[in-house]
Amino acid sequence: MRRPFIAGNWKMNTTRATAAALAEGVAKGADALDGVDLAVCPPSCYLETVGRAIAGSKVALGAQNMYHQPDGAFTGELGAAMLRDLGCKYVILGHSERRHIFGETDELINKKAHAALAAGLTPIVCLGELLAEREAGKTMTIIKKQVDGSLAGLSPDQIAGIVIAYEPVWAIGTGKVATPQQAEEVHSALRKIVEDRYNGSIANSLRIQYGGSVKPENAAELLDRPDIDGALVGGASLKAEHFLGIAEKAVKLGVEKL
Ligand code: PGA
Repeated sequence: MRRPFIAGNWKMNTTRATAAALAEGVAKGADALDGVDLAVCPPSCYLETVGRAIAGSKVALGAQNMYHQPDGAFTGELGAAMLRDLGCKYVILGHSERRHIFGETDELINKKAHAALAAGLTPIVCLGELLAEREAGKTMTIIKKQVDGSLAGLSPDQIAGIVIAYEPVWAIGTGKVATPQQAEEVHSALRKIVEDRYNGSIANSLRIQYGGSVKPENAAELLDRPDIDGALVGGASLKAEHFLGIAEKAVKLGVEKL
């Protein structure tokens, strides 16, 4: 069974004070929500602050990025064990901003995925096509290449334990959400790629989030689709009531999917 999973990616958008207040608001509202997994991913300098604010609540902590080496001369980077020390359960890897602004490749993301899993973190591995790639009819070629590259060499157990976030780049932060049909098409194709590479039961247990302009108003129609298991939320995760509103939609649909 796949339990819905809603995660908030706060990007570089809070101060210490707003991060703490937002985390407290989400933790409080999450009390009333059953049947959904929740996580917030603050800027790394506020992981500890947010970790304290959500301690004992239903909300888990996630980081937005990490480096694959455990330690050493890697100025400005954080390793998986450091994130574990800070109380992280999840780490977002290969977000489109990391891929397109910071030049991260599938090969690097793959190293990070292996290191995260080895340290006991659950990676949320992001992938998605650019607008030009969609318009050229190349969406599935790109997605397949990203899956093959970023998830190379993962064991069946490992792949079953990760989360994939399908985030069409043209829908991130643009207000242009993919239609439920467009998203479902990619999600079901992704599950098929995993089925072909591993097997049907692993493909069925893999959670695939959709990301890109998800809001309380459009969440239900997306989450209602058979292969959409949750959302990775950027802009709308910066207001507790909006983030919780999305999570409520998942709860109302009553969804554990198979
Ligand atoms: P958005 O961002 O919800 O603001 O479009 C999604 C993401 O980048 O994960």
